Amino acid sequence: MGSLDGRVVLITGAGRGIGREEALFFAAEGAKVVVNDPGVAIDGSGGDAGVAAKVVEEITAGGGQAVASTDSVADWDGARRMVETALDSFGDLHVVVNNATIERNMGLTDLSEQDFDDVLAVKLKGTFAVTRWAARHWRERFQAGVRADRAVVNTSSGSGLLNPLPAQVSYAAGNAGVAALTTVAALELGRYGVRVNCVSPSMARTRLTVTVPGMSQEPPAAGYDPLDPAASAPVAAYLASSACPLTGQMLSIRGGTVAVNRGWSLGDHLHKDGLWSVAELAEQVKELPMDDPYDKLAQALTGALGTVGRARLQEMINALLDQGGEPAPASA
Ligand SMILES: NC(=O)c1ccc[n+]([C@@H]2O[C@H](COP(=O)([O-])OP(=O)(O)OC[C@H]3O[C@@H](n4cnc5c(N)ncnc54)[C@H](O)[C@@H]3O)[C@@H](O)[C@H]2O)c1
Repeated sequence: MGSLDGRVVLITGAGRGIGREEALFFAAEGAKVVVNDPGVAIDGSGGDAGVAAKVVEEITAGGGQAVASTDSVADWDGARRMVETALDSFGDLHVVVNNATIERNMGLTDLSEQDFDDVLAVKLKGTFAVTRWAARHWRERFQAGVRADRAVVNTSSGSGLLNPLPAQVSYAAGNAGVAALTTVAALELGRYGVRVNCVSPSMARTRLTVTVPGMSQEPPAAGYDPLDPAASAPVAAYLASSACPLTGQMLSIRGGTVAVNRGWSLGDHLHKDGLWSVAELAEQVKELPMDDPYDKLAQALTGALGTVGRARLQEMINALLDQGGEPAPASA
């Protein structure tokens, strides 16, 4: 018996990378899967209906049940249609896994309005749009007296939650937004029996990360693979299973490590019974203990890439910004 027997699941961006692994894993656990993916390039251009179809073929060849959807999560009516595809094909919808993303990585000074909007349209608005149409259905079923465990599993990133990365202003903002949306949706939808959680993968070997310096392109010949793109699938499946009690949680995943995120937790603070002046703040704020963002990023990368010193980090930042056309500052 699978942990997801009888569950109908819609997974966005399920044609490649982490979403594909989730679709295969969920189907193997007994779920009926809507494999959504328009098959676009990393930047969102183009499209290939064969990408979703291939994952459906893999699932059905293995004896599982799946249908393809090639709509974009950024399309309001498309988001509604993918929910309807689940209802028409399998009679209900229990779980939405919001996983789709695109990226337009470049320095803030080079990023156009269109680039910013397009990334947010997939990552943040797409998460809202699909969740919203599913939640409409779930509210309707609940109001009709049907009681069932429903779940949303969103997908954020360390680049947004813990270490927003240079050259990713739109992507990082979208991921931070997804975390906030998760909390709000968990609080709002609990009354309809809907749990809302979030996974935050890190350094999984997909097309998004192949250009990260130090990322190995191939899995090890044998043994543990800390960059395995399949690492998120069991965590997402746990969050999707009807036995899971969690809601409003964010779980970070790197290989076999699963860590609870505790939001943007508060550090030391200043207090005054009244309004501060700028001069007072300038004097006192600098006395508060703060993390140096370079040191924090270097520490975070060290786990995946080995020792990353300040100079190497600066080189990596320069390389990322240079790709987007922003010349490296002469002093760096
Ligand atoms: N790979 C990592 O290490 C990593 C790290 C942090 C977070 N993530 C997150 O994990 C998720 C999956 O990333 P991945 O690395 O597997 O990326 P990927 O590019 O391999 O897969 C993403 C899929 O989303 C699809 N997609 C793009 N636009 C879409 C749209 N409008 N509607 C529906 N589908 C669309 C693409 O066609 C693609 O197949 C993303 O949300 C990403 O932010 C990944």
